[in-house]
Amino acid sequence: MRRFEGMVVAITGAASGIGEATARRFAAEGAILALCDLSEDALAQMVTRTGIAESARTLRAVDVSDIDAISSFIDDAAQSLGRLDVLVNNAGIGCFGHVDEITAEQWRRTMAVDLDAVFFGSRAALPYLRTAGGCIVNTASISGLFADPGLAAYNVAKAGVVNLTRNMAVDHAGEGIRVNCICPGGVGTAMLKSHLRDAAIMEDYERLVPMGRVGTADEMAAGIAFLASSDASYITGTTLTIDGGVTA
Ligand code: NAI
Repeated sequence: MRRFEGMVVAITGAASGIGEATARRFAAEGAILALCDLSEDALAQMVTRTGIAESARTLRAVDVSDIDAISSFIDDAAQSLGRLDVLVNNAGIGCFGHVDEITAEQWRRTMAVDLDAVFFGSRAALPYLRTAGGCIVNTASISGLFADPGLAAYNVAKAGVVNLTRNMAVDHAGEGIRVNCICPGGVGTAMLKSHLRDAAIMEDYERLVPMGRVGTADEMAAGIAFLASSDASYITGTTLTIDGGVTA
């Protein structure tokens, strides 16, 4: 299937994990990619290692919590590549600890990277998406759907992403722009491994998942690509939970 032939897709946090898998998926389906992450070298190594260098036309070091940096990434990509069809707001960080264990700086940084950046990126992309009849897909989390223990700041930021998704969906539906998010459960990326540090803790976690395992980055990318595709042409404001049954 090549559902995105010739379309321009911008992805944040694309150097690893779910962002990398999403870049590979869109490239395999014919898209032209604009990718950002904290390190341009990491992006360059990723596109070479995965064989998608030809599709990845824009690689940029961007801290998504910096409104000027993310806005100029989107502007430059859309203008140099001629259009913008899809924005995937995917970059994110974890923040572990109760409210009396984390600092104000950790709280603010989590809000800045996990929530503010979705606002910044979407705000910059909307004029181009309006022209293209495009869409936004955000990577939220099942942590945004309930009180995931020990993750206060992360839960709040991701709950914000879920509701910002709904809000943008209703505000921009009349302009032909769809906005959706995925809510992954545990996914076997660097982020989860830094949280569930040793194999025994990971096995305990997996026992709590009805399907008995964590998800793969490719399974998240498949959900993102579905929501961005014309197969989802009447879907906006939805949260697609991809969690092996954890929240069922
Ligand atoms: P990851 O750590 O492999 O990838 C995150 C990417 O975002 C990294 O390449 C990192 O450099 C980049 N990034 C971090 N801060 C950034 C910033 N300020 N500016 C630009 N790029 C930045 O982790 P993963 O799992 O692929 O995470 C992707 C998204 O999925 C995140 O939004 C995360 O919250 C979400 N998620 C992950 C879950 C998991 O279990 N791994 C579960 C639910 C949601």
